[in-house]
Amino acid sequence: MEETNKKQREFWSGKGGDVWVEKQNAMDVMLEPLGVAALSKLPEDLGEHILDIGCGCGSTTLSIAGNLSKNSKITGVDISEPMLDQARKLAAEKNLTNADFQVMDIQTELKKENIYSAAYSRFGVMFFEAPVPAFKNIYRSLQQGAKFSFVCWQSPQLNPWQALSIQVIKKFVDLPSPPPRSPGPFAFAEKDYLESIMVDSGFKDIAIESHEQQITMFVGKSLQEASNDYLSINPVVTAMLEESSPEVKDDISSALQELFKEYSDGNGLHFPSATWLVTASK
Ligand SMILES: C[S@@+](CC[C@H](N)C(=O)[O-])C[C@H]1O[C@@H](n2cnc3c(N)ncnc32)[C@H](O)[C@@H]1O
Repeated sequence: MEETNKKQREFWSGKGGDVWVEKQNAMDVMLEPLGVAALSKLPEDLGEHILDIGCGCGSTTLSIAGNLSKNSKITGVDISEPMLDQARKLAAEKNLTNADFQVMDIQTELKKENIYSAAYSRFGVMFFEAPVPAFKNIYRSLQQGAKFSFVCWQSPQLNPWQALSIQVIKKFVDLPSPPPRSPGPFAFAEKDYLESIMVDSGFKDIAIESHEQQITMFVGKSLQEASNDYLSINPVVTAMLEESSPEVKDDISSALQELFKEYSDGNGLHFPSATWLVTASK
């Protein structure tokens, strides 16, 4: 088995991927408005072949596919087998024949050149051990002049759904936070670092825009279900809890429920969020 991105592959093709499949609707409610904001940065005519990077269960791929003109198609790529199985199942259910899915590590396996007319990602580009080689692959795979747009998280401090919950967890487990810039949801929190990745990968017309929007999590869930879900969807959190006993996990769950009360209106939890909307062209 390839060693590069091993931890991420294990998470997304293992327990993490299964949880994302199971919670797909909840994740879509949370992430959809942010993905739409990134998609709106691309031209209306996306050309004949679009790449959806780290497409997961395929929600964005299929939504784009549903709006494409007759001769266009979209390819979703991801390292997670279970998430792509789900994406293929949904494509078949929707009778969408202009979307296909490929299990592929963008950093080590995307070898195509001058193929895609546009590239897009909703939170699928922050998990590479080496971002510049991965982004160079994306760059090479694009046709000259093609546009790339993606959305990624700013710092946990600006995303209380993460920062506050981590504070709670840290009351119970004494584990270091992952080093800044390490693969994970917040790898691209620093704007200058993110910009340097884009520049070093060859992109031009780079724009990195701050986007703040309220997000809704765990609609229709009790506080206990919300806390259980929270503890299983995030690779950073699951790694922190790996060694904890069931008793400690119960204590964390109770404390999280207390915290979540403040953000709940009985129909989901509502948090402010801060993301980067990044656009560039080849
Ligand atoms: C936060 S999820 C986002 C999934 C999907 N884009 C969405 O918005 O629902 C991150 C995705 O990136 C994928 N991923 C992580 N590392 C990858 C890599 N090296 N190559 C391709 N996909 C990767 C994961 O498997 C996962 O599906």
